[in-house]
Amino acid sequence: MELAGQRAAAASFWPGGWERQARSLLLAVLCLCCPGPTAQAQPPDFAGRDTAIATGVADSNLDARVGSILRSMTLDEKIGQLVQYSAGQPTGPGTGRSDYKEMIARGQIGALLNVIETPLVNEYQRIAVEKSRLHIPLLFGLDVLHGFRTDFPIPLGMASTWDPDLVEKAARVAAAEASAIGIRWTFSPMVDIARDARWGRIAEGAGEDPYLGSAMAAAYVRGYQSQHLDAPDTMAACVKHYVGYGAVEAGRDYNSTEISEHTLREFYLPPFHAAIDAGAATVMSAFNSLNGVPASANPFTLTEVLRKEWGFKGMVVSDWSSIGELVAHGIAIDDAAAARKALLAGVDMDMASSLYHDQLAQLVHSGAVPVANVDESVRRVLRVKLALGLFEHPYVDESRAQRAFFLPENLQLAQTIAERSFVLLKNTPVAGKPLLPLSKDVKTVAVIGPLADDPSDPDKTPGAPKAGVLSFPAELARRLGESNVFRAKGGGILKASDEEIAAAVAIVKRADVAILTLGESPAMSGEAASRAHLGLPGRQQELLEAVVNTGKPVVLILFSGRPLTLPWAFQQVATVLAAWFPGTEAGPALARTLFGESNPNGRLVVSWPRSVGQEPLYYNALSTGRPPGNVDLAQPPTDVESKYVSRYIDEQNSPQFPFGYGLSYTSFGYGPTKIDNTRLRVGDLTANLSARSGANHALTVMATVSNTGSHAGEELVQLYVRLQGTSTAQPVRALKGFQRVALAAGETKQVTFRLPPDAFAIWNDRNQYVIEPAKVTVWISPDSATGSAAQLEILP
Ligand code: BGC
Repeated sequence: MELAGQRAAAASFWPGGWERQARSLLLAVLCLCCPGPTAQAQPPDFAGRDTAIATGVADSNLDARVGSILRSMTLDEKIGQLVQYSAGQPTGPGTGRSDYKEMIARGQIGALLNVIETPLVNEYQRIAVEKSRLHIPLLFGLDVLHGFRTDFPIPLGMASTWDPDLVEKAARVAAAEASAIGIRWTFSPMVDIARDARWGRIAEGAGEDPYLGSAMAAAYVRGYQSQHLDAPDTMAACVKHYVGYGAVEAGRDYNSTEISEHTLREFYLPPFHAAIDAGAATVMSAFNSLNGVPASANPFTLTEVLRKEWGFKGMVVSDWSSIGELVAHGIAIDDAAAARKALLAGVDMDMASSLYHDQLAQLVHSGAVPVANVDESVRRVLRVKLALGLFEHPYVDESRAQRAFFLPENLQLAQTIAERSFVLLKNTPVAGKPLLPLSKDVKTVAVIGPLADDPSDPDKTPGAPKAGVLSFPAELARRLGESNVFRAKGGGILKASDEEIAAAVAIVKRADVAILTLGESPAMSGEAASRAHLGLPGRQQELLEAVVNTGKPVVLILFSGRPLTLPWAFQQVATVLAAWFPGTEAGPALARTLFGESNPNGRLVVSWPRSVGQEPLYYNALSTGRPPGNVDLAQPPTDVESKYVSRYIDEQNSPQFPFGYGLSYTSFGYGPTKIDNTRLRVGDLTANLSARSGANHALTVMATVSNTGSHAGEELVQLYVRLQGTSTAQPVRALKGFQRVALAAGETKQVTFRLPPDAFAIWNDRNQYVIEPAKVTVWISPDSATGSAAQLEILP
């Protein structure tokens, strides 16, 4: 039996219209007739609607208006449109200016960021619209990353839901709330593929996989921008950080990256491409150097790929001061050279470095920068402002904010997403029964640890209204009675005294169950928060051991912006839940999960390391020439075959928990993976490459999935592919589909995937997107490390 809803969900990732098909057929023909570096088909499309960018920045109706505004502009006014400053809380090193009002009146500023008070937004806007000569409105931007006032889980948590529809809804709420104070541009989504948990910004993205990352990228864009970008409750998305930032060496923020064009195309570019296909209006160029050329001055990525290959019509903004940083990178000898290189490479707007303001006019006068390049960048900025409807509606209604925040349905959404972001890592039966969900016999709990009260985001705007949602301990008290919930912090995140730890142990001894809330503070992940050690900070490990040694049952709830290496905990603690940072609704969501009103079904979007030395660690790696095979990596090798293989002598290769992993309060069983065809042909697949319509599927893959436990539950069924015999080595597994199946206890359903030809396409040894003859292995599985395989061939 096919699950109708699931088919629809799967098909929606591969939309196809006749225009798209015609375009891809033409591309396929071009590919076959004249192979060469420019003959490429389009990689998969996650836009989720047939005419992905029919409106918004790509709307050709904007051209005439853009042209007429441009004709009336002086060079200084043009340059002004390319300049952005922070007029609020800085989110990077100082900008050195504050005379914004005068500059706006002179037409010298095109956008501001970090202005978060509505009257101030309107005040700056009034100067631009009423006092500047051309009345061009300002664009106000802000890092609205996972909600504005209604705080959703951090993006890593949102991705752990594996539910693009929920993410789209969260982004819609974020846009409705932030636009209510006049913010029409968010510096989100961050779509950087991140393979190294040391990098603090792994918290801001969707993890290590390009397929899931693409689905999430498109979902954010759809949510922020909605169907009509010019509606007053939208925000222009800014896809960041273009590109390769997630691969910073040693996980150290702002560091360099070396990524071959092949790897860039296969892993790092797809989520950006998906976001552009979904209509993203803006892109942010990254801080990092990429193969020696900083991403904010990289003509290959910014112009060749983004504009020429993908047809991006919106604008590129630099990351904070990243134009100025070209000097520190060493590719510009002075500020003038930095401004010239950035503009000529394709960076349209300068965030915070002031170099376009300071240098561009002189560069144009001297002939070092053709005015045509300035014009082109101004056109792109104006397109975004026009597409947002800012010329028609420059001001925000100041009464809107009061009606926009914490709407009951949005809080409900935040709770649902928080619940679905939790990943149950362990729930091993103790005395024949898992600890979660908590049994009715549990009458008293000890809530220990520094993170119980406010695991939400303390970086949220100071003084901003709060939702009035109960904290986690307060929720527990509501259910069990105030006197049955014992509280002791056991110390802080970074410091604890012996007395604090002893006090915690004492109350644990009086309780039926200990609930330990440990982990990082939210400020320990995110920007400029790379870590070399991924264990519990401070004395939390000691606290954990002391509590476990009481012999009381322990539920460990981890709060973190990344996976933490906790080998002792994973061995000694029977029940561990990864909660990330759940946002506004943390308290109710956690309580509902503990009491079984919500059954966890989040899945890991990053491989969870055993030790820091394994990083970078990711499931979709290439095989080496000496794969360790079935060697028991815990045993010292006894023969040459097991010694000279790709392995550590002191750690296993495998992660603690693989990508895609997550438990539930029930259990699931899988039947064998079945396919409807064992021989596909290069020609047939190529002809339909990128057609992506449900009707054009290339292979049907099926398996039965059964709920073998005693609770109703949802399983996240994953589909992986491996190709062998191709011109470039392909990952040992690559995610190509996922579906959610709801199953009552004892129920079995058949899950069907209809794979499009793109599932078998690769970037070849000439960096072309093609189908090649291959031996193919397909798995339908609960995670990236298990499952039964089926095999087929792609014949020439
Ligand atoms: C970050 C960006 C952010 C920008 C504006 C930079 O430091 O890298 O992600 O959007 O600041 O706050």
